[in-house]
Amino acid sequence: MANSLVVLAHPEPTSFGADWARASVSGGMAAGDSVRFRDLCGIGFDPVERGELYGTDGPFDPLKAQETQQVPTDIAGLVADVEWADRLVFHFPMWWFGPPAVLKGWFDRILVHGRLHDVDHRFDRGRCLGKRALFCVSTGATGAGCGPDGKEGNVRFLLWPIAYALRYCGLDICEPVLVHGVHGYFEGREKADLEARLKGVIADQANVMATLDRRELWPFNADSDFDRDGRLLRNAPVHWPFVSH
Ligand SMILES: Cc1cc2nc3c(=O)[nH]c(=O)nc-3n(C[C@H](O)[C@H](O)[C@H](O)COP(=O)(O)O)c2cc1C
Repeated sequence: MANSLVVLAHPEPTSFGADWARASVSGGMAAGDSVRFRDLCGIGFDPVERGELYGTDGPFDPLKAQETQQVPTDIAGLVADVEWADRLVFHFPMWWFGPPAVLKGWFDRILVHGRLHDVDHRFDRGRCLGKRALFCVSTGATGAGCGPDGKEGNVRFLLWPIAYALRYCGLDICEPVLVHGVHGYFEGREKADLEARLKGVIADQANVMATLDRRELWPFNADSDFDRDGRLLRNAPVHWPFVSH
């Protein structure tokens, strides 16, 4: 039995994205998981990290504040969620080639320096080793448009920065679940087809949750692939264009 944290970043509770997240909750419970559900917009999560939240006098140094001050009360439970969870499942739409701001703010505020990472505990020595993360993402663009040669940019590359933030903390990153061509502009037959397709995605989410521990993982370089300056060794493999020779 696993502890599963489902994080939703969508402002509309009746959206496909919100329904999909609730399917992760029910699917996780059906698989025997303990599940926590955090609807970031629903709980009014404040995504803007800043000094006044720490009662800081003088210039605000976010990393130092996170490390030395009490975690602000509005996020203490959300940080504890990550420590509790074996699996983190994020649901969000692609907004301007990245996650909605509320989710970026979750990364800025919840991955607390001194709690979930520090200089001695990152990447292969991360505090979150043994945990895994899954992104469940909808795009308005088509699958072709989000592919390697797609006009909208390779969606896997667009997800890389937030995946790497979690990898920095030690998590494994699962192959994401991507649902393309989701928008409200279809009419008639096309609209009915989209609704049927999305129903299928939601029905399949129980299976996604039940098989999460067997899901393919994204490859990343090991710490031992880098020299002392943080440069990739000549004979080390390249997994992503962001870290290459
Ligand atoms: C502010 C904003 C920015 C968007 N940017 C993108 C984008 O960069 N790429 C894309 O494929 N779709 C984009 N879309 C479309 C959304 O991804 C799409 O509406 C969403 O995935 C539909 O899921 P939902 O019904 O759960 O909201 C954007 C939508 C909004 C509102």
